[in-house]
Amino acid sequence: MIDLAIRAAREAGAILQDYAARGFQIENKGRINLVTEADLASERHITQLIGSHFPSHRILAEEGGASGHPGEDNYVWIIDPLDGTTNYSHGFPCYAVSIGIERHGKAVAGVIYDPTRDELFAAERGAGATLNGNKIRVSAVDHLERALVVSGFPYDVRERMEEYLPAWREFLKHTQGARRLGAAAIDMCCVASGRMDGFWENGLNPWDTAAGWVIIEEAGGRVTKLDGSPFDNYSASLLCTNGAIHDQMLAVLASLKNER
Ligand code: IPD
Ligand code: CA
Ligand code: CA
Repeated sequence: MIDLAIRAAREAGAILQDYAARGFQIENKGRINLVTEADLASERHITQLIGSHFPSHRILAEEGGASGHPGEDNYVWIIDPLDGTTNYSHGFPCYAVSIGIERHGKAVAGVIYDPTRDELFAAERGAGATLNGNKIRVSAVDHLERALVVSGFPYDVRERMEEYLPAWREFLKHTQGARRLGAAAIDMCCVASGRMDGFWENGLNPWDTAAGWVIIEEAGGRVTKLDGSPFDNYSASLLCTNGAIHDQMLAVLASLKNER
């Protein structure tokens, strides 16, 4: 299964790069939420490949939704055919294909492919996480003051700005820097590979996080909801870190609750 996920992510990445070179149609799903021809072509390719090899597995894909019935083995493939569509449609090279494999509600394997850097992140539960075949580990930064953190804004940012901004204010105050890259799957790979130390976001979807969840945990990091309770891929609330600064980030987030 992981080999097929890797093949699908690489081939879908090539489709994205092909459209990026040739040009593509863009449509609005919402006021600031876009979908391009490339999202759809990438998803079609991935779902066809999975369907032809594992016809009994369920699929949950961002653009096409859920399909199939839970087979005896209960596997669900969770697909974001293009994470970072806004970046992609502007030609900003920060986007990825994300494929997670879930069983009984827990991500068991994941692959994230960044075609702009030819970087393939992969993990299988219990077998570690890799970048282009080499083992990766989260950073050793153990104090928030020395941490580089990252976050994102969901598409309802205009409606819920007041809810999202206080965390930014606090993390800008307490860290070495805070970034917004515009692709949750890349954010999670940055934490898994030690390029960043923590990532928080509210309003994510299962296809944004399914693969990154297992990649971070297998790289030695920690993943919870923003209130510290166990992460659930369908909950929208995500805090993932190198582990060492997890409680410090939770404390900052908890202090905001007292503010309200
Ligand atoms: C979005 C990106 C973005 C995050 C949004 C996601 P999309 O995914 O990951 O960084 O802040 O919440 O919806 O729409 O580009 O696949
Ligand atoms: Ca996404
Ligand atoms: Ca997407």
